[in-house]
Amino acid sequence: MQIAGITLLCFIGAVPLLVGCERASDSTTVETMAGSSVKRINDPEQIATGQQVYQANCAGCHGENAAGATNWRQPGADGRYPAPPLDGSGHAWHHSTAVLIQMIRNGSPDGQGNMPAWGDKLSEQDVRAVIAWFQSLWPDPVYAAWYDMQQRSPSE
Ligand code: HEC
Repeated sequence: MQIAGITLLCFIGAVPLLVGCERASDSTTVETMAGSSVKRINDPEQIATGQQVYQANCAGCHGENAAGATNWRQPGADGRYPAPPLDGSGHAWHHSTAVLIQMIRNGSPDGQGNMPAWGDKLSEQDVRAVIAWFQSLWPDPVYAAWYDMQQRSPSE
């Protein structure tokens, strides 16, 4: 009886816990599919700076919490794509840090899209901080997938 009671308790307890794990980004270490145990970037000062940089420069297009513009998968009236999410629900995690830095510095390739270039406006430190901030929003499985991808192809 008691064992069943404990099992039931654990089962009920595990549900909110798992949901919490999916959304939370406060774990310091994640296990990747490739089997490495990876420490998440977790420098509170850098992340706080990144959040300020984001709110001042990026939130207007990418949304307050980096969830992206509404209908970001559909081109707008100008034929260009609206700002995608950066919170792990889009495809920013398909890119290595090196590529994210380039995208932020240079904006949309050849002026073909609506992402402005920040190379002259933000320091390298600020660009790295804003990346650290939006990466801190990524759920563990997204972070782990990004990490494996970056190990395989650091320049994609
Ligand atoms: C004027 C609106 C606007 C602002 C402001 C803006 N972005 Fe963007 N961003 C876009 C658009 C639109 C795209 C999609 C680019 C394309 O279609 O070429 C994009 C794409 C990106 C991408 C690539 C995402 C992916 O999934 O491949 C990153 C990273 C990014 N922006 C980061 C930032 C950061 C960091 C800032 C602030 C420093 C910022 N953006 C400010 C509109 C904006």
